[in-house]
Amino acid sequence: MIRFLRWVLMALLAVLTGSLARGAAQPNRVYQVSTAETQLVYTVGEDGRLIFRYYGPRLSNTDQFARWRSYNRPDCNREANYEAYPSFGLGYVNEPALSVVNANGSLITELAFEDYQQHLSEGVMHGVFTLLDQIGSLRVQLHVEAYQEEDVMAQWVTIENQGKGKVSLQRFYSSFLNFRANDYYLTHFYGTWAGEMNCAEERLEPGIKSIESKKGVRTTQSENASFILSLDHPAQENSGRCIGGALAWSGNYKLSFEVDERDYLSLLAGINPFMSAYTLDRGERFETPKFLFTYSADGRGTVSRNFHDWARRYGLHTGTKERPILLNSWEGAYFDFDEQILTNMMDDAAELGVELFVLDDGWFGNKYPRNSATMGLGDWQVNEKKLPRGIQYLIDHATSKGLKFGIWIEPEMVNPKSELAERHPEWIVPSPGREQITMRNQLLLDLTNPDVQEFVWNVVDKLLSTYPDIYYIKWDANRHVEQVGSPYLLPEEQMHFWVDYIRGLYRVYDRIRAKYPDVMLQACASGGGRVDYGSLPYHDEFWTSDNTDALQRVYMQYATNLIYPPVATASHVSASPGHQTGSITPLKFRFDVAMSGRLGLELQPKDIPAEEMAFAREAIANYKTHIRELVTKGDLYRLISPYECTNNHAANMLVRKDKSKAVLFAYCTGFNRRGIRPTVHLHGLDASKRYRITEINKTGKRKAFWGEGHIYDGAYLRQVGIELQIARQYDSAVFLLEEVK
Ligand code: GLA
Repeated sequence: MIRFLRWVLMALLAVLTGSLARGAAQPNRVYQVSTAETQLVYTVGEDGRLIFRYYGPRLSNTDQFARWRSYNRPDCNREANYEAYPSFGLGYVNEPALSVVNANGSLITELAFEDYQQHLSEGVMHGVFTLLDQIGSLRVQLHVEAYQEEDVMAQWVTIENQGKGKVSLQRFYSSFLNFRANDYYLTHFYGTWAGEMNCAEERLEPGIKSIESKKGVRTTQSENASFILSLDHPAQENSGRCIGGALAWSGNYKLSFEVDERDYLSLLAGINPFMSAYTLDRGERFETPKFLFTYSADGRGTVSRNFHDWARRYGLHTGTKERPILLNSWEGAYFDFDEQILTNMMDDAAELGVELFVLDDGWFGNKYPRNSATMGLGDWQVNEKKLPRGIQYLIDHATSKGLKFGIWIEPEMVNPKSELAERHPEWIVPSPGREQITMRNQLLLDLTNPDVQEFVWNVVDKLLSTYPDIYYIKWDANRHVEQVGSPYLLPEEQMHFWVDYIRGLYRVYDRIRAKYPDVMLQACASGGGRVDYGSLPYHDEFWTSDNTDALQRVYMQYATNLIYPPVATASHVSASPGHQTGSITPLKFRFDVAMSGRLGLELQPKDIPAEEMAFAREAIANYKTHIRELVTKGDLYRLISPYECTNNHAANMLVRKDKSKAVLFAYCTGFNRRGIRPTVHLHGLDASKRYRITEINKTGKRKAFWGEGHIYDGAYLRQVGIELQIARQYDSAVFLLEEVK
């Protein structure tokens, strides 16, 4: 009875306060947030709701949106509008962005526009819409950032409980967008360990297609929190309307694409609501991660270049700093090394022109020596048997050879066979009374616990303060969450685990970056398990995949670079036969592929045949002189997609911003019948400039292009293109294009 009375009271209040009062038709108030080329438009009509109206090319006049009236929803007295941040409970029938259980038990949230503020600062327009649930207790601020030059937008919300009781947030997405087209095609990225970032494009049919992770950690191993949506047609490289999106969050995420009964497409992006209800006490605020998106009127090429520009400026710890060429010890030595093996590797690396030596897994643990993945993880003391003279000895040796030094850690995890697990069982994510599931023989530390955060911070701080010459850290994370829960959190807070884990991680990253801004950090999670714009602002690069097979990398790096920039795409030359695929590939092919990203080596240098050492040295020198600058700051133009080319070819080009220099990479991915050669049309050059074409990384006298050494104008290279003689699987070619005045 009391409950019923409460409901009646609420209903009465609603009528009296007229929170969404209806009156005579007034013009809509129009709000727009723009970048140089694109625009988001919202309106507020007579019912007080903030309505999403438009995302697309920038319009010179948005006044016309004031007249917009939508038709009623079928069989309903409500207009069929899409709110800027749709909430559940009254007048919205699709998947909502926000749903809550209010303190009084009501499931309804109805947000009305209160206020809009915006300010421009250093090339970023920041707009904030304040929305209020006038009966409930929530104040929602919808933030929009418009990165002017990069044509990238970011959206997120802060949700504040202004009431007296607790509110339980059930879903709290970061962003909502809506589109109307004849067809919708979604490109997304799927995979697994050693096979991350495969590209799939599919037509969206009525219903909901979702891309998500429920793994908590290592969340981008099987699906990446990013996509390209093409309107009307499958995505093309240089034409068509495309939207690219990426969620800046390293935990569970969900991107949902709903084609509804009216054939509109609604897109929600944010933290995955799965088992993640989050309680807000009175006065508490919840801030969601940013969802980044960009619009292109001329195909996915622009989507990628916008993201790359944005990432270099805002989405990576350092975006435009040239990276050293490194040798990582993993595939060359695995756990099986001693001082001599490592110093020999350094000597050989230095001979090749390598600039940084990275000591991977296996250097720590004494009671439980880390000689395999079965023990020692968590015990971050130097293994005295393998390395009796310690880390400093290795650093000194590296320095004497002109190399910088880097080291591997995996501080979020622990082997049950470790001193850490013996000392602090309460720090481990448990499954009380049930079997503990190990992955790669390891368990997860409970980063929701501030003591664990302190421990993880200390692992890094101790290393970097003891050895100030450590230049680079590879931060790994080799399992995901299966048993969920935290001995630290209260029973009623257990569902906070997913969010609080990542917040704990970011807290540690924040401290590291405050104290060690100059250390290079690589994000690794069994390869590409943490490739997301939530973690990347703390990192300089990511380990793309444990699969270093060059042919596989042609595909993976193609897909990765649709969203993430080449400068951050760690790409290593490894041994042949490849350790993952067993494929036998020419050294040239392996170099030519690795050089299109952040070049490194991951092999025992002694395994490079003596007769190929000169080629390896020359390729590394070429990278330094010509290519590194373009990988770091250039624009990527994809010329032939390995996914779409029926003739087994792939090609892409990196072009200096002023178009005075470019490097073209071309690969043959399979056998081609006689006479089939790729003609590559060089998009991205200046039509009016003239370019000399020079082939580099050559292994013999044979030219891959008969016109090599000659001068062509940009218009010719774009329209006519060049036909390349790369026909057998693993043939490849690299050309420089330099402006001739
Ligand atoms: C993960 C990483 C590898 C390597 C190993 C070491 O698999 O992705 O690159 O560092 O761990 O154990």
